[in-house]
Amino acid sequence: MRVGVLTGGGDCPGLNAVIRGIVRKGVTAYGYDFVGFRDGWRGPLEGLTRPLGIADVRGILPRGGTILGTSRTNPYQVEGGVQRLVAHLDQLGLDALVAIGGEDTLGVATRLHAQGVPVVGVPKTIDNDLSGTDYTFGFDTAVNIAMEAIDRLHTTAESHHRTLVVEVMGRHAGWIALHAGLAGGANVILLPEREFDVELVAGYVEKRFQFEYAPIVVVAEGARPLAGQMLVVNSETDAFGHVRLGGIGQWLAGELESRTGKEARTVVLGHIQRGGTPTAFDRVLATRFGLHAIDAVQAGAYGTMVALRGTDIVRVPLAEGTGALKTVPLERYAEAEVFFGS
Ligand code: F6P
Repeated sequence: MRVGVLTGGGDCPGLNAVIRGIVRKGVTAYGYDFVGFRDGWRGPLEGLTRPLGIADVRGILPRGGTILGTSRTNPYQVEGGVQRLVAHLDQLGLDALVAIGGEDTLGVATRLHAQGVPVVGVPKTIDNDLSGTDYTFGFDTAVNIAMEAIDRLHTTAESHHRTLVVEVMGRHAGWIALHAGLAGGANVILLPEREFDVELVAGYVEKRFQFEYAPIVVVAEGARPLAGQMLVVNSETDAFGHVRLGGIGQWLAGELESRTGKEARTVVLGHIQRGGTPTAFDRVLATRFGLHAIDAVQAGAYGTMVALRGTDIVRVPLAEGTGALKTVPLERYAEAEVFFGS
């Protein structure tokens, strides 16, 4: 068997651990050969490969990023892209493909599988918002990085009697904000799942100052105030059409400063949350995903992806990972609200 492996979409701590698990088990248990595709779907689209043997995966377990490189290329958005991609898979004599990625990457995998390409998926995102799996690797690392930042910001905020607004990642779901905020003892947590009243947030901030403590406000990049409260449009996009980070955090700090009369600062954690070494939890989850993904190839379970259910790794249809995003239930948010302003 010859198996191609690719990583697509935003990078994520644990990708290398998945690749290592796939290759180590594939070679030692099943005697497979591997082809590494560079830069997500761009690899099979343009025939960009790299060797992927046991020697290539030694020492990569603790390394962030992906040795294969990544991109957001979508062959379905390229003229004749799918035909070119399938032709390259044939030329390389591939029997199967493992695609490691988020919504977009797995969406392409689902469509290719429907067209007869034997593909198995591995779900990935630091945002933890993919359906079909209880957790994705990379999330725990991102939460720990954000928590450590919040821990540090408490002391500087208190020394200067300032409000510290910490903007974390999460365009559509507030999992990182919720978990990092709870773990770091934030005084307010704002998520994309529920519009916030800036007046109420200012009230929480003032209350916290009354207790002689400085407030930490954790805001997800996709959180928005009630309609009519945001006068400045901050959904500016870059040359690639991506929404710029930092908009909501800056806006909110300005609003809180003017409403409370207390100095406010913004910290945008941005890509720090995606970089560097994965936590033990993510290394174990990613390794297990890799091992089970190659088992799925061996079982011929194409069109599926591996997923965590409780403590078990299971196989679910690829389409489950690309369905509606898994957002934070409002009951979970209500648990955190108890701490706001106190
Ligand atoms: O999808 C993960 C994520 O971390 C989002 O929370 C964030 O908006 C996005 O990636 C930013 O990624 P990039 O800068 O690579 O476009």
